[in-house]
Amino acid sequence: MSPSNSPRDRKKITIRTFAIKKKNNEKISMLTAYDYPMALAAERAEIDSILVGDSLGMVVLGYDTTLPVTMQDMLHHCKAVARGAKYPLLIGDMPFMSYQVSAEDALRNAGRFLQEAGMDAIKLEGGRERKKAIELIVSAGIPVMGHLGLTPQSVHQLGGFRAQGKTAVDATKLLEDALILQDAGCFSIVLETIPARLAGLVSETLEIPTIGIGAGVDCDGQVLVTHDLLGMFERFVPKFVKQYSHLHQEMVQAFTDYKLDVESRLFPEDEHSFKMLDEDWNTLLDELEKPPRIRA
Ligand code: KIV
Repeated sequence: MSPSNSPRDRKKITIRTFAIKKKNNEKISMLTAYDYPMALAAERAEIDSILVGDSLGMVVLGYDTTLPVTMQDMLHHCKAVARGAKYPLLIGDMPFMSYQVSAEDALRNAGRFLQEAGMDAIKLEGGRERKKAIELIVSAGIPVMGHLGLTPQSVHQLGGFRAQGKTAVDATKLLEDALILQDAGCFSIVLETIPARLAGLVSETLEIPTIGIGAGVDCDGQVLVTHDLLGMFERFVPKFVKQYSHLHQEMVQAFTDYKLDVESRLFPEDEHSFKMLDEDWNTLLDELEKPPRIRA
């Protein structure tokens, strides 16, 4: 199907669609979005799923890590995305400390993404240590996406944003974790920054679809941070990113052109200005020539 602006004939993507795509060996496309215009553009491009990632902390809010992102930040951005996109599967990312304290806390916070912010599912990071929370959330009817490999909320424990699962021991643990998440009820798992051959093995082993980011072509789908793909985030560009545009440079150029136009009076032009009829203008001038009205 070619990308179109018309929502006609479009079916809502659900977790069932994810499962069918895996079964049919069709790749799943996913992007992050954090606001209305990005969500609308992703919807029009017929992207299968939108993740409102806590990466918003870095690419939108300017933090060095995702750790300062709060539930309030996430719900605010999820609501904007839900207003822009109806058809993709909408997934809200649970921020640091919203699911680690207790399974009950995790369930309560997960519910807010669906009840208050229009999301269809949630994502959380971690392996076997999340089993109880995932089971509880799934038992409440909330679809859960897992996230293994480079899990940015554990950046300090991992010793930086580094590739994971590179040794046989680490790879075995990751594969075990993936099976535990599947058994706990996850409908899909993000695999971030792990060797491509390991991601291929995990994808082949699991019944649920894997979504890769820096995990090679053999995952069942791919996700990228939209600001990376568009070249809007320049602080660093991870090795796995393909930049499809260079919007940061284009923005700087557009802002520079605007500033020059303002300074040289080239903007605004007639077409950007509003007209007043001669009749009204002349009346105004006449009024101004009269002595001021004497007020009672
Ligand atoms: O927060 C995010 O954008 C993510 C993706 C990188 C998978 O978790």
